Amino acid sequence: MIVFATSDKGGTGRTVTSCNIAYRLSLKGLRVAYLDFDFGSPTAGAILEIGEVERGIANNQGLHSYLLGEATSAARLDVRAATDRPEMRKSRAQVGDFVLFPGDRGGAELKVADADVVNRCVQLLLEVEHKFDVCIVDLSAGRSMAMELVLRATAQPQLLACTVRWLVFYRWTRQHILAAHGLVHGQYGWLTSGMEVGHDEDRLLDNIRYVRTSVPDPTSSNGGSGAQTVWLLEQERQLKRLSSTKIGAEVLGETPVEPMLQWREQVVLDIDVRNEVASDSIVEAFARLANQLIDRRAWARI
Ligand SMILES: Nc1ncnc2c1ncn2[C@@H]1O[C@H](COP(=O)(O)OP(=O)(O)OP(=O)(O)O)[C@@H](O)[C@H]1O
Ligand SMILES: [Mg+2]
Repeated sequence: MIVFATSDKGGTGRTVTSCNIAYRLSLKGLRVAYLDFDFGSPTAGAILEIGEVERGIANNQGLHSYLLGEATSAARLDVRAATDRPEMRKSRAQVGDFVLFPGDRGGAELKVADADVVNRCVQLLLEVEHKFDVCIVDLSAGRSMAMELVLRATAQPQLLACTVRWLVFYRWTRQHILAAHGLVHGQYGWLTSGMEVGHDEDRLLDNIRYVRTSVPDPTSSNGGSGAQTVWLLEQERQLKRLSSTKIGAEVLGETPVEPMLQWREQVVLDIDVRNEVASDSIVEAFARLANQLIDRRAWARI
């Protein structure tokens, strides 16, 4: 399965949530690949706490260089062997491989998605699809050449038999709901751009789900003022109304606001919950999202 992690806006929690989902999937024994296609700002290495690729990999060994034909293959790192976080290295025997394909250090947004680049992308996706159970591709925010590239690649006949999912991340605010809807349905959004390069609209739509991140609890996030709680609850009602018209039932899941992640981008480990530095609700949310992602019922036609 190939999963594209997308968002219209930046800073939605796309990378942190995707890294945590990838980690949870590997704990379930699945072989997971994480491809950092956020070429201009590769941050997965930092979140997985791999110091040597904190801002991407050096010497043109990353995905950007591979796609442009400047490297014959894309570098890959075993996350559990390479991470600087000892608790992440220790793991139960039955965990699956967890491999990061880093972006290039000092990389830049992709400027071309011509036939050669598309072909290299197809070859890479075919390889990872074959070797891994789940392959998560973190795309840069908004409409980009990376988006164009993966739409073209996934429309190629070689990839048509693969299960391909698209996740749209957004925060629980009015602007984010409208932006997430626009990324899929708007002019130059996934659907129109996808159809232009040969995708079937219904099939594409069936494989798109939304993920709400960092959702606040209106009853606990203020200093206890009654008027403020009433106001926050009204905002929540309005957001739910907007979400039901713009996004509908296609929400795969959500994450609550987690103080640990407000302060530091990282993978939340079970030991963080045991040590009471992270809430169990965030780990439960990541585990639930990981389960939903691989549960066919969550992808039944709506
Ligand atoms: N559930 C959460 N609770 C609190 N903070 C969160 C949560 N999820 C993510 N964050 C924080 O939000 C910020 C943005 O997250 P992240 O970098 O994953 O977003 P992004 O969409 O990948 O951004 P970019 O577009 O810049 O790549 C980070 O500081 C992250 O730790
Ligand atoms: Mg990111």
